[in-house]
Amino acid sequence: MDLMQKIISLSKRRGFIFPSSEIYGGFGSSYDFGPLGVLLKNNIKKAWLDEMLKKQDNIVGLDAAILMSPKVWEASGHLTAGFADELVECLSCHKRFRVDEIKKDKCPECGGKITKPKQFNLMMKTFVGSLEDESAIAYLRAETCQGIYINFKNVLNSGRLKLPFGIAQIGKSFRNEITTKNFIFRMREFEQMEMQWFCHPKEADKWFEFWKEQRLNWYLDLGVKKENLKLSEIPAGKRAHYAKRQIDLEYNFPFGWQEIEGIHNRGDWDLSQHQKHSGQDLKYKDPETGEEYIPHLIETSAGVERSFLAFFTEAYQEISGGRTETTEATKEEETLLKLDKKLAPVKVAILPLVKNKKEIVKKTQEIYKMIKPHFMAQYDEAGSIGRRYRRQDEIGTLYCVTIDFDTLDDSDVTVRDRDTMKQKRVKIGKLLEYLAEKLN
Ligand code: GAP
Repeated sequence: MDLMQKIISLSKRRGFIFPSSEIYGGFGSSYDFGPLGVLLKNNIKKAWLDEMLKKQDNIVGLDAAILMSPKVWEASGHLTAGFADELVECLSCHKRFRVDEIKKDKCPECGGKITKPKQFNLMMKTFVGSLEDESAIAYLRAETCQGIYINFKNVLNSGRLKLPFGIAQIGKSFRNEITTKNFIFRMREFEQMEMQWFCHPKEADKWFEFWKEQRLNWYLDLGVKKENLKLSEIPAGKRAHYAKRQIDLEYNFPFGWQEIEGIHNRGDWDLSQHQKHSGQDLKYKDPETGEEYIPHLIETSAGVERSFLAFFTEAYQEISGGRTETTEATKEEETLLKLDKKLAPVKVAILPLVKNKKEIVKKTQEIYKMIKPHFMAQYDEAGSIGRRYRRQDEIGTLYCVTIDFDTLDDSDVTVRDRDTMKQKRVKIGKLLEYLAEKLN
């Protein structure tokens, strides 16, 4: 099996990600996040929100609606601006081309096979209300940031903010992608974590550099190795229609380098367009100098699922010959998911050494109840202790707490560290404090 197959298989086997509608044969590129997947996904989102709302200065949150006036999408250029061209897509490099750019039925970039021409717009259409005619057409948002732009004045005035400031939002976006491929990398329904930084036009270049660095550091701080990340400057002509400057933050996936986040200088494109189409004044007046201008926007736009896949790939390790410390080591290949402590879905596993000794099971359940409100914990009593350690390593659990015969006499438990496999005896009364020190 290649690495991607192994990741997909582990994801399904351990309840991270399931193909959607599987009992009906699946549904395109949709995936469902299982019990562990939802924990990991939420931890990624929390790490991003903590970064934006706690670590950085002057950023506030927003949760705008998915359904907005269709006028938003006219103004933003998503219904036009090349989005409705007849397009073909290369089946191997996924570049899209207008029909008139294609001479033979081969991709002009890589020579791959191309799809048949299609009238193509990425926006997903739906109807709102009881009528199903032109007047009822609405769109599922293709990027979360438009909800931020149309709320610029609401947020500015209600929060009495001053430029520069940011608005951060996490939410679902939808794109009718022609081809979907590579597991959760390219989907039609996905989540974005977007931050829009409103600043003075003269400061846009400076902030672009700042945010580019901050975003790179976020992935590094969460355990992604430097050599697996790169920033690619996108040249004019290849940028998104709104971008004056664009850097793709790429990860070295098993299927090659691919974008996980875009950093864009959107200039005054969005606010000017919304000002023009809505007739509302979206200028900012500097309270000190009195200067009036349309703020420029620096955007950081990350995909939740693409980050998920990057963190998962980065954490995935195979140890051939086994590394389990017990005498029961089978010397078979073991899997270790070395996720950062902020991201690991389960922080602590609570394990009775044996399940057929009533007093041990009772004590273990008491400890599980004590730990559970503080750290995401799992109780597991099935199988040998070595096998249970391996199961926990495979899902990235940071600590295993084992309750054994000695515990009943001396109130000590064994705490095993996922990465070093070192074991330490800790008093039950000190266990919470010990874990808090390690995990917080
Ligand atoms: N607001 C700017 C914007 O949406 P983008 O480069 O089109 O920019 C930003 O998308 C991020 O959203 C990408 O870097 C990627 O992580 C995620 N993304 C975009 N399309 C996606 C898809 N079809 N499936 C999964 N994630 C996607």
